[in-house]
Amino acid sequence: MRFDVKTGSVTNLKTACLILPIYSSGPLPGATRAVDTASGGLVTDLIDSGDISGKVGTTLLAKPNTGVASDRILLVGCGKKAKFDRKQYRKVMQAAFTALGKTSYVGAVSCVNLETVKGADVSRRARIAAEVWQHASYRYTTTKPSAGETAPKIESLGLVAAAGKAPDVRKGLKQGEAIGAGMSVSRELGNLPANICTPSYLVSEARRIAKSSPDLNVEVLNEANMKKLGMGALLSVTAGTKEPAKLIVMKYSGAAKSKAPVALVGKGVTFDSGGISLKPGAAMDEMKFDMCGAATVLGCMHAIASLRLKINVVGVVPACENLPSSTATKPGDVVTSMAGKTIEVLNTDAEGRLILSDALTYVQKFKPRVIIDMATLTGACLVALGKYRSGLLSNSDALANALLKAGDNADDPAWRLPLDAEYRALLKSNFADLANIGGRDAGTITAACFLSEFVGDYDWAHLDIAGTAWWGGGRKGSTGRPIPLLMEYLLTRSA
Ligand code: BES
Ligand code: MN
Ligand code: ZN
Repeated sequence: MRFDVKTGSVTNLKTACLILPIYSSGPLPGATRAVDTASGGLVTDLIDSGDISGKVGTTLLAKPNTGVASDRILLVGCGKKAKFDRKQYRKVMQAAFTALGKTSYVGAVSCVNLETVKGADVSRRARIAAEVWQHASYRYTTTKPSAGETAPKIESLGLVAAAGKAPDVRKGLKQGEAIGAGMSVSRELGNLPANICTPSYLVSEARRIAKSSPDLNVEVLNEANMKKLGMGALLSVTAGTKEPAKLIVMKYSGAAKSKAPVALVGKGVTFDSGGISLKPGAAMDEMKFDMCGAATVLGCMHAIASLRLKINVVGVVPACENLPSSTATKPGDVVTSMAGKTIEVLNTDAEGRLILSDALTYVQKFKPRVIIDMATLTGACLVALGKYRSGLLSNSDALANALLKAGDNADDPAWRLPLDAEYRALLKSNFADLANIGGRDAGTITAACFLSEFVGDYDWAHLDIAGTAWWGGGRKGSTGRPIPLLMEYLLTRSA
């Protein structure tokens, strides 16, 4: 998909399809009025005859016979003008794309972004357009090529810019393009089955991404390296499988060496069977998505590098499988983490926190400004927050607030849960410094509590994306979240 900026009069724009907004009442928007006038009242006729109402997300294709350079127009309903906010605007762009996807047009130009949208300035409107369109055009075809047949034919989207606004529109398009592409990287990794997307596959993907930028570097630790470093927690999870575990380190240098990096850490369990504490069979296939934290790191790195952000970022991905076998870790086994703390593994299905604990210890060698980890960590988070908001837990109010704000602004929201020291008592063990589970209560909090034991004095935040990283049921598939939240945070930091 190509995105570009169009300037000049809309009636002179040569394109297969010109996308024009209409509201459910009131006067026609400027661009729509210009086309209406030039075409001898085509739009007014269609509204008067009841062919389109202006309700949000309704669409109507029409062919102007005179006065307009574009072959077709696509009218899209934007609802009430006074209520046109970011969410409505997203719906409208999505609806326009769906309508165009059913045609064979290869190009279109949108005028919807000329409208005032509550909560979105000129460049944000462009960013959302590019993001929505890329999200809508992604198809998973690797093991189902026929799914590509329904892919939209659209190759280029133009956005009309008002006088003097072209640079703002261009900036937003670039951001949306990078974020959308990063989300596609992440979604593809999530959607790939676990017999393809192994830890080694994540390594090859990280290397592929790094090749595209001189500012990106990849280093990979193998199991022997992990053993030397004393990563007993990570190694205990991979003990039951023949598939080699990897610790992927991606370094992005966009600022002076002296500038402390932002650390992104992502859970990369490429399949979570639960191990000896085996999960029930129903929906176990969805545990191929248990590497979505890792996919988020790779997707963000891709977006960060393509935007050439002026910050330093280090991404760390502990990657392995969690399977049962005669060599697997057993409930009650005690392992020693890289930090030196002993852990009683009471449940081998609470494996995410184990691999993350060693990754969180390891990442401190980069002396990061902040550490943010993303993990499909607890079913309890899905119960608490459902599929709309990610869980956010942090030892820093400033970092938590910045991430919450970023999530809201990017329409990729999170919700903070508490992390009081009192919860720590639930992780007590008679046989080790810590138990890896805290019982039935407050599952998302005790998991984060466990992680907090391994971040030292660093400002740290944890995003539990168990509910938000993928859709189940008929729409089963990876969502690309929380890349928009993180990119919003990083874009704000690098501004
Ligand atoms: N990957 C799962 C969490 C998960 C489960 C995410 C279902 C999305 C949907 C994680 O490794 C896990 O198994 N967590 C356990 C923890 C429990 C054993 C304390 C859980 O949530 O049941
Ligand atoms: Mn598990
Ligand atoms: Zn897991």
